[in-house]
Amino acid sequence: MDDPIALRPVEEDDLAMLGDLVGGDPDAAGEFSWYGWTDRHQWHRRWAENGLLGDDGGTLMVVRGQERLGLVNWRRKSPTPTAYCWEIGIALAARARGHGYGTEAHRLLVRYLFAHTPVHRIEAATEAGNIAEQRALEKAGFTREGLLRGIGWRDGAWRDGIWFSVLRTDLAV
Ligand SMILES: CC(C)(COP(=O)(O)OP(=O)(O)OC[C@H]1O[C@@H](n2cnc3c(N)ncnc32)[C@H](O)[C@@H]1OP(=O)(O)O)[C@@H](O)C(=O)NCCC(=O)NCCS
Repeated sequence: MDDPIALRPVEEDDLAMLGDLVGGDPDAAGEFSWYGWTDRHQWHRRWAENGLLGDDGGTLMVVRGQERLGLVNWRRKSPTPTAYCWEIGIALAARARGHGYGTEAHRLLVRYLFAHTPVHRIEAATEAGNIAEQRALEKAGFTREGLLRGIGWRDGAWRDGIWFSVLRTDLAV
């Protein structure tokens, strides 16, 4: 039987993969997540500081058994002075895309954040052309909230975004 998809903290051996997926390799990042080269040493610095797990956000590996599939992350946002929520992100290796792992990774991250933090709302945004991410979010229980016109600059053009959220009460049984 196949190992289940799981999330786990980032280990030192994982950092090269994170560097490739985020700003280190256009092919690894994929069309919708390539914004140009970034400092890949940042991963080592941030990992050495707190293992990529802090009060204002974090990063976890998406794995299946020993196989590394990619990463999920979250960061704190404060829409009002008395509330905060998380905005999440995901990047899977090219070979791991299109097998349902992204949908499952979103489900696991939402469950993790609602279990271990008191937030009421988790947000995610993606480019209007990124159909795989939109479908993965919807299948994981997110609601499409609307179009963000010209919100992101990528590859020489301003791009529309689509905003999603899931509330704790959406998932209550
Ligand atoms: C976006 C991403 C997380 C989606 O995860 P995934 O594992 O590839 O997606 P899944 O296999 O769970 O598929 C989810 C849905 O998207 C559809 N889908 C998958 N790849 C697709 C593609 N290239 N084009 C259109 N639809 C696609 C699937 O068919 C499925 O929908 P369905 O059940 O209606 O058929 C993953 O592809 C990825 O990491 N891409 C590169 C980085 C990225 O774009 N991150 C998000 C930035 S906001």
